[in-house]
Amino acid sequence: MYINCSEREQFILKKISNAAKELGVPAFLIGGFVRDKIIKRPTKDADIVCLGDGIELANKVAERFSPKPAVAFFKNFGTAQIKLPDFEVEFVGARKESYRSDSRNPEVEPGTIEDDQNRRDFTINALAISLNEQGYGELVDPFNGLSDLAAKIIRTPLEPSQTFSDDPLRMLRAIRFAAQLNFTIEESTFNSIAENAERIKIISQERITDEFNKIMLCNKPSVGLDLLYKSGLLKLIFPQMVDLAGAQYIDGKGHKDNFYHTLQVIDNIAVNTKDLWLRWAALLHDIGKPATKRFEEGHGWTFHGHEVVGAKMVPKIFAKLKLPQHECMRFVQKLVALHLRPISLTKENITDSAVRRLLFDAGEDIDALMFLCNADITSKNRQKVKRYLENFQLVKQHMEEVETSDQLRNWQPPVTGEMIMQTFDLPPGRKVGLIKDAIREAILDGIIPNNYNAAHAFMLQKGRELDLHPVE
Ligand code: CTP
Repeated sequence: MYINCSEREQFILKKISNAAKELGVPAFLIGGFVRDKIIKRPTKDADIVCLGDGIELANKVAERFSPKPAVAFFKNFGTAQIKLPDFEVEFVGARKESYRSDSRNPEVEPGTIEDDQNRRDFTINALAISLNEQGYGELVDPFNGLSDLAAKIIRTPLEPSQTFSDDPLRMLRAIRFAAQLNFTIEESTFNSIAENAERIKIISQERITDEFNKIMLCNKPSVGLDLLYKSGLLKLIFPQMVDLAGAQYIDGKGHKDNFYHTLQVIDNIAVNTKDLWLRWAALLHDIGKPATKRFEEGHGWTFHGHEVVGAKMVPKIFAKLKLPQHECMRFVQKLVALHLRPISLTKENITDSAVRRLLFDAGEDIDALMFLCNADITSKNRQKVKRYLENFQLVKQHMEEVETSDQLRNWQPPVTGEMIMQTFDLPPGRKVGLIKDAIREAILDGIIPNNYNAAHAFMLQKGRELDLHPVE
């Protein structure tokens, strides 16, 4: 076998080979599985292409396993899937196909293995391994995919505009593979992406966002994001990001390019977390800057309130990109809203109460917020970055001290609204809210400690001020 497979994989492939032989249809292993084996990446599911009916072959293969796995199939596409406990295999008949320019519905007719390889996205994804008796395990590589793999090049098998117009999502896939594998997109392939970028509009938002998230999850997301920007795709799929780009100058004073700053922040955070939503918070932390940018005489560039404007933009952006609307969105929104707070605590003479308020507002997301703020410290000036990071370390220490003594992370009021109503025999209403807020503020300001006895005494005192009397 040209590629290195585990014993279990070999066992399964042999069964596929025997089933194909019985049906008299040549079969090949193809696509990502072959690519990943060659470059020694972990492999997932395998794709099999046969010169015949893929569904029929899948059924024949399933019969050879005990217990017999279910075969899921899509008649319209001629594809079938078998899920073994530890392995998934997809079957398809080799096709010659072309997509009409106005839709994603292909016109399909049976083809040879080379026809099938022709219509795949990239040479590195068109590598096939024969599962036929003659030449079992040999590599079938009509487009030099192997040398492109070695040279780390993404290139289309056909003329690029043909491959991209067959399925414009491939433009995003090219960039995603370049970012994931640390490959270069060959020049004419990249130029064609720039020329055909507009065609991304016929692709569903879900598929676009899926690829975008894969780029976000790369070790260095900036590689893919910058390629999206330079190809013109980003402007079409996420224009608010492009608005961050560029630095304006007035009276010789410029501001930093917020697009490249954002990319740096994502790369910084990617070193510490694989959490997609924390990475999204990094992507969006300054998204309100273009809308709040002002040049103030004698002062320079300001972006006052960009965290508030940015937080307001988050739900709209999530809705447009069809990202989840609930917890994940609220998490990102909260981090965008709070992203300046920890930095503002790097000044001298910060009171415990300021720290306490941040702990209270961030709640259980305080660690994520601190990751984001740490990543947000970027500058070309290394000394400056070092100084900021050191100051930031002091803030963290201060927070830990306050946290240890006050335990505000998952703060629950020590005296609840229910207790207030019972104590004064009050119906729900304004007065209950007033007392509750007063207790919270007193704890946050350090006037009383965060415990039941202190809060209870404070409640009685507040009650008296409002002319309320505890019932027996
Ligand atoms: N393919 C294609 N055009 C697409 C999607 C897929 O030509 N728009 C082909 C490629 O040959 C690809 C194979 O179908 O290798 C399997 O697709 P998929 O599972 O989406 O991608 P993989 O290459 O396996 O990589 P990954 O799992 O990382 O997406």
